[in-house]
Amino acid sequence: MNQVNEKKLAGEAALRYVEDGAIVGVGTGSTVAYFIDALAGIKDRIKGAVSSSEQSTAQLKKHGIEVFDLNATGPLDLYVDGADECDPFKRLIKGGGAALTREKIVAAAAAKFVCIIDSSKRVDVLGKFPLPIEVIPMARSLVSREIVKLGGQPVWRDGVVTDNGNWIIDVHGWQITDPVALERELNQLAGVVTVGLFAQRPADVVLVGDKVM
Ligand code: 5RP
Repeated sequence: MNQVNEKKLAGEAALRYVEDGAIVGVGTGSTVAYFIDALAGIKDRIKGAVSSSEQSTAQLKKHGIEVFDLNATGPLDLYVDGADECDPFKRLIKGGGAALTREKIVAAAAAKFVCIIDSSKRVDVLGKFPLPIEVIPMARSLVSREIVKLGGQPVWRDGVVTDNGNWIIDVHGWQITDPVALERELNQLAGVVTVGLFAQRPADVVLVGDKVM
């Protein structure tokens, strides 16, 4: 099956986890776009959504799904999002779409994180996909030098500004055998806003197409 079909199947399969009356946490990306389209079909059964990006907010609103501020909702039951890589322990690399900070916030607020991917995203060890790190703009060089000391090759995603007004560094060349430790270490660097490793809080369920991993 091709990747597009798998993404669509995964987006539709995630509807199984949506309960009546829910405010659903919604991620960002092409797989999530299928989820939002599917969610529109049951929009009368849900209260609304909390969105992780301007892109998803626009799509949700286009479908007439109410978008709530996370500060107004309290904890969420469910967060649905895609990923750039997923290891056998459901630890993820995210941020290919530069939405990692709000994605991590909404994931942290949710009791269950359902990750929707196509099979190309499955890896044994994270790191082939360059690891996105959102940084405060003035810290770009400082953080990059620290990454070099840690053996990575930082590349500035020139021209990209996140929804939070920050910049993205993509780190190449890491075989991430201990993603929890690396996430913790990178989180300590001054100027780092968010690391695109979702390892301390991995996904709870991974759907590869319509199959539970
Ligand atoms: C955005 C993300 C996306 O979830 C990730 O890039 C996967 O995207 P897609 O579903 O388009 O393959 O982390 O920041």
